[in-house]
Parts: sequence; structure tokens; C-alpha cells
Amino acid sequence: MPFDFDTPPDRSQSDSIKWRRYANQDVLPLWVADMDFAAPPAVLAALQERIAHGVLGYAHPWPSLLDAVVEGIARDHAWHIEKEWIVWLPGVVQGFNLACRLAGEPGDGVLTFPPIYPPMLLAPDNQQRRLVRSNLVLAGGRWEYDWDGLDALLETQRARLLLLCNPHNPVGRTWSREELTRLAWHAEKHDWLICSDDIHCGLVIDPTQRYVPIASLDEAVAQRTITLMAPSKTWNIPALSSAFAIIPNASLRKQYVAAGRGLLPDVNVLGLTATEAAYRSGAPWRDALLPYLLGNARRVQEVINALPGLSCTAVEATYLAWIDCRSLNQASPQKFFEQHGVGLSDGRDFGMDGFVRLNFGCSRELLEEALRRISLAVLAAQAG
Ligand SMILES: Cc1ncc(COP(=O)(O)O)c(C=O)c1O
Repeated sequence: MPFDFDTPPDRSQSDSIKWRRYANQDVLPLWVADMDFAAPPAVLAALQERIAHGVLGYAHPWPSLLDAVVEGIARDHAWHIEKEWIVWLPGVVQGFNLACRLAGEPGDGVLTFPPIYPPMLLAPDNQQRRLVRSNLVLAGGRWEYDWDGLDALLETQRARLLLLCNPHNPVGRTWSREELTRLAWHAEKHDWLICSDDIHCGLVIDPTQRYVPIASLDEAVAQRTITLMAPSKTWNIPALSSAFAIIPNASLRKQYVAAGRGLLPDVNVLGLTATEAAYRSGAPWRDALLPYLLGNARRVQEVINALPGLSCTAVEATYLAWIDCRSLNQASPQKFFEQHGVGLSDGRDFGMDGFVRLNFGCSRELLEEALRRISLAVLAAQAG
């Protein structure tokens, strides 16, 4: 079945956070992480069928939903989980905030790797824990963990939780088995809990890469790991607020559920309905989406890397490009591009100055226009 990513619905007058920010300005919104595409037809059909039933009473996750998630994760990621390991959540952000609560005592360290999704930088403090940062480094044109820096850091800083993002927003890396094994070695050595935010795992666009859940490395790692997943990024349904944690360790799972008791709402029935449809029937749409996103990623790379003062690494996963503007000589690259008609995310929010993040989850036409504006802005600034 063909899917049309070239002519997405017009969101300019809609409720979209992404589009409303610049509703009355000629600024193309390529910031917050949702895509401009309509959700897969199979998901929309399931939602319509559920609405047609008419009654929207309290719902409990049902057996065929659990089967769809378990089978989808086995099929897509070769990871065999049990239904009992799943804890439903209204969002992944709540999921890693909850994990921070299980990290030792108030004041204990939570290790994470900037640049990273901003709420992950805020979660430790939200939960009376202390952020321990080990910045990623650019090595040979690729973002990597700073292994030497990490060893040095751990001599003075004690952490109780490793907060991982795999694939990593915003640098687009799909962490390799070797890299994850090395992190897991540290986790064993220092007795860390691991919380891995794998919300982008269905969006590996580089066909040479493969997503590996850290919990699938071995039984010991699985026992200390909370893996967070959701259909929201892959199938573009983030406003349906449906996510889940996978926690193989029964006692950890009990603590996790207890930490959220009375605070977290149940996932709403439409979110659950969409989740089942996405995991059961969303593969053809995703199979068509990934090459489209890869084409967009390649265009971003081609244009950005040809411009003076800008560069970006290859995106292995996600629909986000992390653009290095440190040689552009602009105090705020985000503001600079905004003034030239392109709304990007500010690297500072991700814990790294001098960068912007570009969301290429949009039509090729819109992307081309944004890249044209970016090029004109850079060339004009150079000439001036
Ligand atoms: C790494 C990461 N985690 C979590 C989220 C948001 O998850 P949720 O909307 O389920 O809270 C995002 C959204 O951009 C993200 O990129």
C-alpha cells in the first residue's frame, strides 16, 4: 500500500504546538519532536472503530494489546519479553522521572550523557537527585561516549542510576552492542540501576545499524534495567499519551509501580487502542516512512556540510539532526535561524551550547525550503 509523505495535512491552523509557535510569522517550524505526517491508516481505523463503539469508560489493558506489544518487540528488535514485565505509563518522561525516585536516596547521583533530551537533564533535580554529566564527544565524525572522561568522572562522582537514551536524541546514534556492553560493565561494577529511554527505537533509518535494547545483553543487565518504550515517535501519535516500562525484575517492578501509585493516571483507552494497532499493523507504514526519513536526513547532511561554519554527523536513527554551529560566530544560532525564517531547537536546552536541532520529520518540499533559508542566512552572514 503506498503512503504519501509528500503532501501531509496542513497543520498551520491546527492545535499543533510545533506550528502554533510561529502561527503569525513566516517561520518554518522544525523544532519539537513530532512529525508532520498523519498517523498510519491502520491506527486511525482502529481509533475510529473504538470511537464508533460509543462508550468511553475506564479501560484495563487487554490480552490482545499485550500480545501485540510482546510480538511487535520480538519481531522488530529480537527481544523476547513477558507480558508481566510491562508497566503502562502516560508518558516516557514520567517513566524516567519515576526511575530517578528509585535511585538511592535524595541527593544521590544520576549519570547521563549530554547533549540529551532536555527533560532528562531536569529529572534528577525534579526527584531530589543530583545530575552527573558525562558529555558525548565527537570522534572521527561520530558522536561517542567519552570513555576516558567517564573513568575520571567516576573517581570523584558516585552515581546510583544510569539514564540512557537509545537511540540518542539529539545526536541520532544507535548505540552498538559493544558500547552498551561497556556501559553495562560499569553498571555492574558500580551497582547502578539502568533506565534506558528507547522511545526512538523504531526509527533506525540507517539500514546498516541495528537497535539493541541494553536489557537484552544478558540476564544480569536485564535484572537491573527499566526500559522505556512507546508507539508515539515511530507512529507519530505522541498526543495519545501511551507508553510503557519493561521491567523483568519483579521486585524492581513492584518498587517502580509503588513509586507512581496515586500520582500517575491510567493510559487512556484511545492511547491503548492506537498502541495495539501500531504494534500489530503499523509495520508497512513504518517500512515506507524510514526510507523517506533517510532521504531527508541525507539532504540535511548534504546541504549543511557544504555550508561554511556548519556541520552535522550522519543520523542513524530518529528524525532529528544535530547541527554544529560553533564556527558560525553567532551568540545564539537558534535565534539567528529563527530571524531568517526557520524555527529550530536550541542546543543549550540539551546541555550543549553552539548547536541547534533540526526536525526533518516533514515533507521533502518543506525541508528543501528550510534548507534554502538556512543556506541564504549563512551565506548572507558571511558576506556581511
Ligand atoms: C528521548 C525522548 N524521550 C521522551 C520523549 C517524550 O516522551 P513522552 O511524550 O512519552 O513523555 C521524547 C520526545 O521528544 C524524547 O525524544
